[in-house]
Amino acid sequence: MRTEQSKTIYLKDYQAPDYLIDETHLTFELFEDHTLVHSQLVMRRNPALSAELPPLTLDGQQLELLELKLDDRELSAADYTLTDSHLTLQPTQVSFVIDSSVRVHPESNTALEGLYKSSGMFCTQCEAEGFRKITYYLDRPDVMSSFTTTLSGDKQKYPILLSNGNPVASGEEDDGRHWATWEDPFKKPAYLFALVAGDLWCVEDTFTTMSSREVTLRIYVEPENIDKVQHAMDSLKKSMKWDEEVYGREYDLDIFMIVAVNDFNMGAMENKGLNIFNSSAVLARAETATDAAHQRVEAIVAHEYFHNWSGNRVTCRDWFQLSLKEGFTVFRDAGFSADMNSATVKRIQDVAYLRTHQFAEDAGPMAHPVRPDAYMEISNFYTLTIYEKGSEVLRMIHTLLGDVAFRKGSDLYFQRHDGQAVTCDDFVKAMEDASGVDLTQFKRWYTQAGTPRLAVSEHYDAAAKTYTLTFAQSCPATPGQREGDKLPFVIPVELGLLDAQGNDLPLRLQGEAVAVGSNRVLSVTEAQQSFTFVDIAEKPLPSLLRGFSAPVKLSFAYDRDQLMFLMQHDSDGFNRWEAGQQLSVQVLQELIAQHQRGEPLVLEQRLVTALRTLLQDASLDQAMVAEMLSLPGEAYLTEISEVADVEAIHAAREFARQQLAEALFEPLWQRYQANREVSRTTAYVAEAEHFARRALQNIALSYLMLTGKPQVLAATLEQYEACDNMTERLAALAVLVNSPFEVERAKALEAFAEHFKDNALVMDQWFSVQAASTLPGGLARVQALMEHPAFTLKNPNKVRALIGAFAGQNLVNFHAADGSGYRFLADQVIVLNALNPQIASRLLAPLTRWRKYGPARQALMKAELERILASGELSADVYEVVSKSLV
Ligand code: PHE
Ligand code: ZN
Repeated sequence: MRTEQSKTIYLKDYQAPDYLIDETHLTFELFEDHTLVHSQLVMRRNPALSAELPPLTLDGQQLELLELKLDDRELSAADYTLTDSHLTLQPTQVSFVIDSSVRVHPESNTALEGLYKSSGMFCTQCEAEGFRKITYYLDRPDVMSSFTTTLSGDKQKYPILLSNGNPVASGEEDDGRHWATWEDPFKKPAYLFALVAGDLWCVEDTFTTMSSREVTLRIYVEPENIDKVQHAMDSLKKSMKWDEEVYGREYDLDIFMIVAVNDFNMGAMENKGLNIFNSSAVLARAETATDAAHQRVEAIVAHEYFHNWSGNRVTCRDWFQLSLKEGFTVFRDAGFSADMNSATVKRIQDVAYLRTHQFAEDAGPMAHPVRPDAYMEISNFYTLTIYEKGSEVLRMIHTLLGDVAFRKGSDLYFQRHDGQAVTCDDFVKAMEDASGVDLTQFKRWYTQAGTPRLAVSEHYDAAAKTYTLTFAQSCPATPGQREGDKLPFVIPVELGLLDAQGNDLPLRLQGEAVAVGSNRVLSVTEAQQSFTFVDIAEKPLPSLLRGFSAPVKLSFAYDRDQLMFLMQHDSDGFNRWEAGQQLSVQVLQELIAQHQRGEPLVLEQRLVTALRTLLQDASLDQAMVAEMLSLPGEAYLTEISEVADVEAIHAAREFARQQLAEALFEPLWQRYQANREVSRTTAYVAEAEHFARRALQNIALSYLMLTGKPQVLAATLEQYEACDNMTERLAALAVLVNSPFEVERAKALEAFAEHFKDNALVMDQWFSVQAASTLPGGLARVQALMEHPAFTLKNPNKVRALIGAFAGQNLVNFHAADGSGYRFLADQVIVLNALNPQIASRLLAPLTRWRKYGPARQALMKAELERILASGELSADVYEVVSKSLV
């Protein structure tokens, strides 16, 4: 709950720590009804500051203080002051030792922050400010210490005892308990601390680093999951190799461990040498996890591993710099995934996600810069802006500097700051120093919030054979930043110009002696700026922002024939997809307008033609065809609407899907059958080419079922029953769940639940598929599912799978005009506020987007936000989001 009122913390108030902690020695005595934590902190006055000794204030929350000593002298209550969040005392010497003993209650910790229990095992989550719930400490990332940790517990219940670093000693006690000591030689902030105690099995492997050191790799899971670990282990080894090859980064300890836990607020956590993962981000095998889940495991394993350098060896000075480690690490894991799979498909998926969700955040009440300058609760700032937009900012630096200079900058950054806690400015400085490129103006991407708009216009002068592109940039207002105060960004625009045959023309800018390639990057740095190309014999068609070279909203007045031309001819795969998306958006917006005017809906036939051409071209990458067949989602159509008309968007998109299914039945059916035939006759492989085949197969099936033809129902049932993997099974189930075939739907759902009732992660998918079904009566279905024995509000994965999927993916039902969806979500937020504030605060995001809707919905949504605000004692997490979204 909120302590000492919710106050805002400002970047401008940053001050270096008064005291440092050189060594941290911890002892945990784990019991069923409490845990004792003894800590010994070897401390000294920060030598960078004056010699006088100010009071020392340690962070600590929900701790029962049992004993406190300063240099072996027992302190009494008169020697210190204690509040519900701090312990203050007066040191008398420059160097001193503090001993404390506290009691904590992991067994009743439902917030899943600090030390807690999940499925009978002990584990920790300390980022961002969880360590203060374990012991009194300077819980800030710029205080870095070595750690020695001893844990003891019942040997039968907790045979495995783990912490950061290397194991150095262990032993047994007479009373059935045992203990182990771990030593982490690398100085680290407390947010990277971890311990685990449980009955776990592990898969072990080794990795030989580039300097020929052998590292032991272990992935710990509950015994029944030991058969689902190989994919994560393979991903880990690939990540270690990739980071050596691409970034020159080598692992530094003798052992690297991953532990899977069932109750976890996020995806995973990069604790030094002991990553703790949500089990959904580790476990994967053909029968229980989809292709998407396999790719997610690979990406998250890589992400956490990469943090060992970008985050751990070099960490953040303060939490305003969070994107320093997160943006960089997302950029690194995206590069890895691109190299392991199809780079273009990875880029398409990332951009679609960014434009749907991060752009919405940028346009909402919680919008903030990549480096925020104020927050109330840091947990609310683990956002798409910090992560995904932060990664886009790094990608732009990479684009501006080029591969070689970027790598030099990265090397310099790690070398210069190894063992330090630094800022985004330090990172950019290393990039500048290594490349000689001045990034002063570029840094506005770190400080100005909002998604820039980039309007492009063209002028062709046939007589002079010149072609001029004019760019006009602007950025809408965001909380605390007026539009008029925002200065121009540096926007790298990668582009090409196509001739009538679809070939890229050589590009020579006015003033240049010769053409410089046929694909190049222009830096748009002014509010309005023109570039003129010479020797252009005929009016070209521009291909703009190739690869989505900057996170902006680009507009250019393409007509539909031009978009179809780009779909077929653009040499940039991303822009071929993008042209298809823009064509679809135009067509869907026309249908939305028809629906709003009460006119009959008529589908633009050029979209049918374009998709038919794709389906009939056997030479194309199947994953690309699958992506191009996917119409822009309802959430994206909402994001780009001035005022989102929920029913019209849904009706328009469903109408288009239905029409496409009818018109393209033959080619869809052919591709489906051909691909299903291969799937039927080959064993499951988690590799790009197979992902591609199944992706096309499954999207084809989802279209085909819209025709309701009996042979499609038969094919769906065949796929559902006869497949050997979750990708095909879940896709078939989803198709049935959204179909009118009630009997078959009920049968399949029941069979699925019966078969997988003991597998929590598979049951999550079963919940999600139903929660996302847009058939009428969605809320009632979700409410009924909350009564299912496999559901519990205490498990974040369950909350996300059922309630999160309903509010985030089932827009027609969630936005029911009577406000029932909103009321339901607010009810859940109020309950979760007391159980798990972080999950409560994340869950309520859809309600904060009320400005997107018409007056009736706005009123209903605001009323629910106000009801939450008035509901009693709110956590800082929920309070910050609700209060800011009502401003
Ligand atoms: N630092 C983690 C990551 O991005 C995310 C995380 C944040 C996990 C806070 C738990 C709590 O890899
Ligand atoms: Zn991260």
